[in-house]
Amino acid sequence: MAGVSGCIKYSMFIFNFLFWLCGILILAVAIWIRVSKDDQQIFTNGDSGVNPYVAVNILIAVGATIMILGFLGCCGAVKESRCMLLLFFIGLLLILIVQVAAGILGASFKSEFEQIMNTTLHENVELLSKTDDNAKSFQKALSKFQDEFKCCGLVNGAADWGNNFQYNYETCECSNTPDSSCVVYEGKTVYKQPCISLIKDLVKKHIIIIIGIAFGLAAIEILGLVFSMVLFCQIGNK
Ligand SMILES: *[C@@H]1O[C@H](CO)[C@@H](O)[C@H](O)[C@H]1NC(C)=O
Repeated sequence: MAGVSGCIKYSMFIFNFLFWLCGILILAVAIWIRVSKDDQQIFTNGDSGVNPYVAVNILIAVGATIMILGFLGCCGAVKESRCMLLLFFIGLLLILIVQVAAGILGASFKSEFEQIMNTTLHENVELLSKTDDNAKSFQKALSKFQDEFKCCGLVNGAADWGNNFQYNYETCECSNTPDSSCVVYEGKTVYKQPCISLIKDLVKKHIIIIIGIAFGLAAIEILGLVFSMVLFCQIGNK
């Protein structure tokens, strides 16, 4: 009797167009992170074998999944296909469940993650005074960070660089006239502040952004669930 509401149908279409765009956005961000290798090397521990690409690959998979779901929702709505709408609903529900589970896990292991990050950064200090390839790529990454965030060394300041200081001091150098944020080390005026707290702050800022995105996505997902279910029922009643 009631038939299919055009409003719901076209909202569903627009929604899923948004989903599809979100999927593309996530894919683009993930690929962008994957390409900018230098920043990742700050967290790559030489011996631990932790692969920073794992997280990015997960992100790529999530982006692709959202794209596929967006497509299912769009087509399901336009063609009034119950099968597609049901697939869309189940897929979306699974994603929401995984997202909530990940959020709960993340929140309960927060202090462990912070500790691992702290330990990794402290262990990486010794890479600054070494000369092997792995150490060199870490040094390059930290040099870039030093330049950008006006800090020097990782934990103890310029001394972390050891014998490598003389070859890497440029990005440590205080460009301002010597003031309280600078210190003289081995004849060079360098930033007094070690980078570790700035790296941690940067990571926290990124995590807050990720949490914000997750909540935004969850809200969109719940609306998508409701709309697809309503449309599914309306098609059944026709
Ligand atoms: C970070 O690790 C170092 C060395 O492992 C330790 O001395 C320090 O207290 C830790 N800091 C925090 C905030 O956990």
